[in-house]
Amino acid sequence: MAIVFTSPSHLQPSSSSSLSLNFASSSKSLSSAASCSQIVRLCESSIVFRAYAPTCKSVLVNCSGAEAVEDQAKLSTSNRALRRTVGKGSKLIGCGSATPKLSISNEYLSKFVDTSDEWISVRTGIRNRKILSDGETVTDLAVKSSKKALEMANLKAEEIDLVLLCTSTPDDLFGSAAQVQRELGCNRALAFDITAACSGFVLGLVTGGGFENVLVVGADALSRYVDWTDRGTCILFGDGAGAVILQATSDEQDCLLGFDFHSDGNGQRHLHALVRSTDKKPGDEGAVSNGDVFLPSRASVSCIQMNGKEVFRFAVRCVPETIQTALEEAGLHGPDLDWLLLHQANQRILDAVAERLQIPPERVISNLSNYGNTSAASIPLALDEAVRCGKVKPGDVLATAGFGAGLTWGSAIVRWA
Ligand code: ACO
Repeated sequence: MAIVFTSPSHLQPSSSSSLSLNFASSSKSLSSAASCSQIVRLCESSIVFRAYAPTCKSVLVNCSGAEAVEDQAKLSTSNRALRRTVGKGSKLIGCGSATPKLSISNEYLSKFVDTSDEWISVRTGIRNRKILSDGETVTDLAVKSSKKALEMANLKAEEIDLVLLCTSTPDDLFGSAAQVQRELGCNRALAFDITAACSGFVLGLVTGGGFENVLVVGADALSRYVDWTDRGTCILFGDGAGAVILQATSDEQDCLLGFDFHSDGNGQRHLHALVRSTDKKPGDEGAVSNGDVFLPSRASVSCIQMNGKEVFRFAVRCVPETIQTALEEAGLHGPDLDWLLLHQANQRILDAVAERLQIPPERVISNLSNYGNTSAASIPLALDEAVRCGKVKPGDVLATAGFGAGLTWGSAIVRWA
């Protein structure tokens, strides 16, 4: 199902820009659980929506599988989406992280993959990664990291109003946010998943407008979807989780200084893990209805397929651009930044982006040598380490940027605590 918010003609901006929000991907996220009216309310309360909607002619919200309960007239006469009111600001008040116990070094990996420590560390900067084992789950890691964030924020679980789990690898096809909510005891919170690969966490940072206390968790286990015979891909990924807590505050104290997001489905061919139907067994004839043959089958997800060179080029081109745009919105310049905190994909990408933005290496946060690319977890995991070791201090301004499958990319300029 799709909902289109359209500006009345007298309010339409001259540009023909439009915004598309997806609330379902591979049947994940809140789609089947939320009614149309809930989705409308959520959209309208999200900072992304309030920031972009006034400048767009139309906003398309995809929520396949959702109950179509709202009557069209009610939606089309609703002008609430068009208000230009700036909502409350939000401040970052806590963070935490968690990684699996099993550590796999490059040397260990080279025992069963045709690679070497030298090749991996020179080309990527990665030396170790943590991989789920012994029944550990994405939910476990998300819960552990969230508990640490709650403790730092000095908040009780029941004080959380919204739980956003940014993940492409939930333990449940329908999303794992509600399980994180249950295990933490966030009894009065709404919880749902955000699926935007390695950009998920940065999107999560700007999705909770209108809620008082928001827990944003980035948690992923791409090791589950890696082809361990594909040496160009499997060496990159690790599993982990990181969490932050955002608390509503006055506009003056707002720590979200600027942001910018993009997606381009044309780039999917460079990075994907597609859903496919299982092969039919010989002899399966199925049933014929209206002339079409129906063969019962079950979907499965194929391993991650990546064109590393193309993804590399995309990151080095698009990430500096999105950060520049977010900096402009914040009224800041590269030298005003205390830290550059990018999605931890490859040290060479971090270096190239920093060079383009003229940010010196000592102001680039990097921990990928220990964890590899942990997808949506990588930014909060690196943030948590940098905060706990005293590197990032209260008042520091960071440029964060996520990029990856979709393709999706985006950035947020934030002030810590
Ligand atoms: N060990 C040894 N040799 C290898 C390995 C390996 N693990 N992988 C590839 N090679 C070989 C290739 O076979 C090739 O050999 P050849 O020259 O004889 O043909 C050679 O090394 C060069 O291979 P390239 O693929 O050209 O290597 P490149 O320098 O492009 O590095 C890499 C590959 C590390 C994957 C790089 O392209 C990269 O990091 N890209 C970005 C990927 C990324 O960040 N993806 C995640 C996005 S986030 C998300 O949403 C999931």
